[in-house]
Amino acid sequence: MKANDLKSAKSACDEKENTCIDITILSPETANNNETSQCKRHPGYGETPEGMSRSQFKKMKKAEMREKTHKEWRTKIREKEREKKKLKKQAIREGLVTPPVYEKVLQEPSTLRVVLDMSFDALMNDKELSSVGRQIQHCYSDNRRAKHPVGIHVTSHTEKIKEWFDTKAKESVNWQGIDFHEKPYEEVFAKEDLVYLTADSDNVISTLDETKVYIIGGIVDKNRHKLLTLNKAKEQGIATAQLPIGNYIKLVTRKVLAVNHVFEILIKFIEHRDWEKAFKEVIPQRKFNQDTTPTTPN
Ligand SMILES: C[S@@+](CC[C@H](N)C(=O)[O-])C[C@H]1O[C@@H](n2cnc3c(N)ncnc32)[C@H](O)[C@@H]1O
Repeated sequence: MKANDLKSAKSACDEKENTCIDITILSPETANNNETSQCKRHPGYGETPEGMSRSQFKKMKKAEMREKTHKEWRTKIREKEREKKKLKKQAIREGLVTPPVYEKVLQEPSTLRVVLDMSFDALMNDKELSSVGRQIQHCYSDNRRAKHPVGIHVTSHTEKIKEWFDTKAKESVNWQGIDFHEKPYEEVFAKEDLVYLTADSDNVISTLDETKVYIIGGIVDKNRHKLLTLNKAKEQGIATAQLPIGNYIKLVTRKVLAVNHVFEILIKFIEHRDWEKAFKEVIPQRKFNQDTTPTTPN
């Protein structure tokens, strides 16, 4: 194909939008057959379905493509990790590597109770629901390794989230130190013992009261549902509190954290009695601002 042909093929593609003739990605056979193909610059989205604008359709297609690439990337990473583990086990068996010695942590349980409030099923899509399910799995395993494990209570454990656990985390039936309640927390604990943790509370806590029951909202919503837990607690007449993040560190993002991070901060605080240490051990480094002056965007 000559330069001029290529130029006209590309401009035809720009006009047509649905398909792309781009010789940079065509194999010699397809180039000879003059078949159309897809290229990154002009993916063939096809016909726009009725009732949808072209730009809505393109947006939807792009999101689908992103999701697909992300899934493929995740599968590859998992495969690599599995292979690495297999090789390591084999090396240990063959005596080429000394197995790691894990120090057994002497555990002294704390009297603090933590509720994971799972009453927000209806506000999450399937992906968010799996994400919150995995976050609870993290809470459980962090608590198992904690120096002072707390009592975990998963409340409103019904419907979609229960179904997720019954199918995707079957092992949870054997979990120790965690109670699953179908009832909501207000039917399990005395109201005056409850403190709803929410980044929107005006009450910034300075310590944890180990006689209390701290509630974490079991939701992944990328902040779609503003003031959700604050309003819920207010309506129920329950005390609220926010973690004192802004007093110790500066974040580049909003100080709304994921369920498992909030949970881990609580158990790290019980261990160190030091918020700064707890925050720094738990909050991912990428969220820290280089300038360490405290105060965080809301
Ligand atoms: C991803 S956030 C959910 C945000 C949700 N829009 C809301 O209104 O709570 C998950 C939960 O972690 C807890 N949480 C997150 N950041 C917090 C903070 N800075 N202080 C106290 N609790 C926090 C809250 O219980 C919150 O419901």
